[in-house]
Amino acid sequence: KRVAVLISGRGSNMAALIAAAIDPSFPAEIVGVVSNRADARGLEIAATHSIATRVVSSRDYDGREAHDAAIHKALTELKAEIVCLAGYMRLLSPDFVQKWKGRMINIHPALLPSFRGLDTHARALATGVRVHGCTVHFVTPEMDEGPIIAQAAVPVLTDDTEETLGERVLKLEHRLYPLALRLLAEGRVRMSDGVAVFSGVED
Ligand code: GRF
Repeated sequence: KRVAVLISGRGSNMAALIAAAIDPSFPAEIVGVVSNRADARGLEIAATHSIATRVVSSRDYDGREAHDAAIHKALTELKAEIVCLAGYMRLLSPDFVQKWKGRMINIHPALLPSFRGLDTHARALATGVRVHGCTVHFVTPEMDEGPIIAQAAVPVLTDDTEETLGERVLKLEHRLYPLALRLLAEGRVRMSDGVAVFSGVED
């Protein structure tokens, strides 16, 4: 399957997907990286792997719909079949989400449905949860809300800071995201009537 990754910044999850896809037995190929920011560090990483990169800045478009339409065009030009959001920091318009329904996934640094949105590690610490983690889910129009594909958990340690907890979760994200993409690319998970349906998945 041809996969495009949407980023806004560092791109460490994107790099994890690229690394996984280098294995010839991986069922997906990263064919392009699209960023809404020209200064996204992930763009350089993608370029070193000779992966096509595109910058589609919201400043060049009048409104969210027009910006998302330009992103959709870039994805179409790449002949992408699956879109992975990896630290893409803009809310996507319902029309765009509809176009990629069941074919677009996101990674979120918390165990959804807890801690949607930003600053998840600080909020996990403030709440006092003893287990935290990350989630890969299908993208639906509401932020961090779609059907869950995969989750992984880490303990919260008594002396954790936002940074130490965040690092522990990030390492796990880098393992979880390729696993989840594999499930989707192999057709072992699909979205049907708003839920994730699995087949041939060993629990
Ligand atoms: C990750 O924590 C991801 O879960 C969240 O944004 C962060 C992006 O980091 N959606 P990176 O750009 O993949 O390094």
